[in-house]
Amino acid sequence: RDIFLIGAPLDCGKRARGCLMGPDALRVAGLMRAAASLGHRVTDMGNLSAAAADVPSPANPMVHGLAETVGWTRVLAETARDVAPRGLPIFLGGDHAVSLGSLAGMAAHARALDRPLFVLWLDAHADFHTPLTTESGNLHGTPVAYAAGLPGFEAFPPIERPVPLGHLCFVGLRSVDPPERAALEETEATLVDMRRIDEEGIAAPLRAFLERVAAADGLLHVSLDVDFLDPAIAPAVGTTVPGGATFREAHLVLELLHDSGLVASLDLVELNPFLDDRGRTASLMVDLTASLLGRRIFDRPTRPFAAG
Ligand code: ARG
Ligand code: MN
Ligand code: MN
Ligand code: MN
Repeated sequence: RDIFLIGAPLDCGKRARGCLMGPDALRVAGLMRAAASLGHRVTDMGNLSAAAADVPSPANPMVHGLAETVGWTRVLAETARDVAPRGLPIFLGGDHAVSLGSLAGMAAHARALDRPLFVLWLDAHADFHTPLTTESGNLHGTPVAYAAGLPGFEAFPPIERPVPLGHLCFVGLRSVDPPERAALEETEATLVDMRRIDEEGIAAPLRAFLERVAAADGLLHVSLDVDFLDPAIAPAVGTTVPGGATFREAHLVLELLHDSGLVASLDLVELNPFLDDRGRTASLMVDLTASLLGRRIFDRPTRPFAAG
């Protein structure tokens, strides 16, 4: 497979700084080498940069970094649209505001192919605020609502064919704010919170979602936030929440995604190398990506993936 690494040293989606070093930490941890060793053709496109856009001041005065975030969204959306027809784009964040751009671009790509876009959000958080509902004002908490076409994103490029709520799957939830909960609870979105993972395991709900994506001939965008993982194994993130996915749960998710053959694009986001412990979080993110790209213990899946 052709893989394109797209560095997005974006740090404007929240107040605490450090994610701008994320792309380089992922490179140092051997992302390119890991992907190439699995037989993929890898192109590192280097780091993008973005000029702040000219936008009116936000209706909600809490909103932080709007002009810069809109600038990044434009550049990332264009890049995603350009790269996606040629291979698998991997967006190296940067904080989760990176996904405003990757999702906008992938929505445009899916529309051009006339195929439905599905989104798998691996995160402690739902990131389902809008610029109107956010209390923190941190735009890294908004990309899913943007992709779903919720109001309040007028400063951003319009989403071509918003993603229906039923095409969203959140796995790892354990920190959801009241407006996000209100906007998601009574919808068709798949909400796999930590309790559900404890009770059902992580594979069953994920398989059910992947079977729906396959049946719809969908394109799947996967967004992996470092805080999906338990802070004990992944300390390098500003928004740690206890009780996250274990090493084994996380690898299983990425292995199942590989076996599905459905993944069209990937975000690796929220890595803050300033907070890391001898590079272990960066290395774990690279190893998880390797699982998604086909690294396995035996070349014999324990159970073949079948579309239902
Ligand atoms: N819901 C909280 C907020 O709006 C936390 C969002 C965390 N998002 C993230 N991408 N880490 O501020
Ligand atoms: Mn997030
Ligand atoms: Mn998060
Ligand atoms: Mn549908």
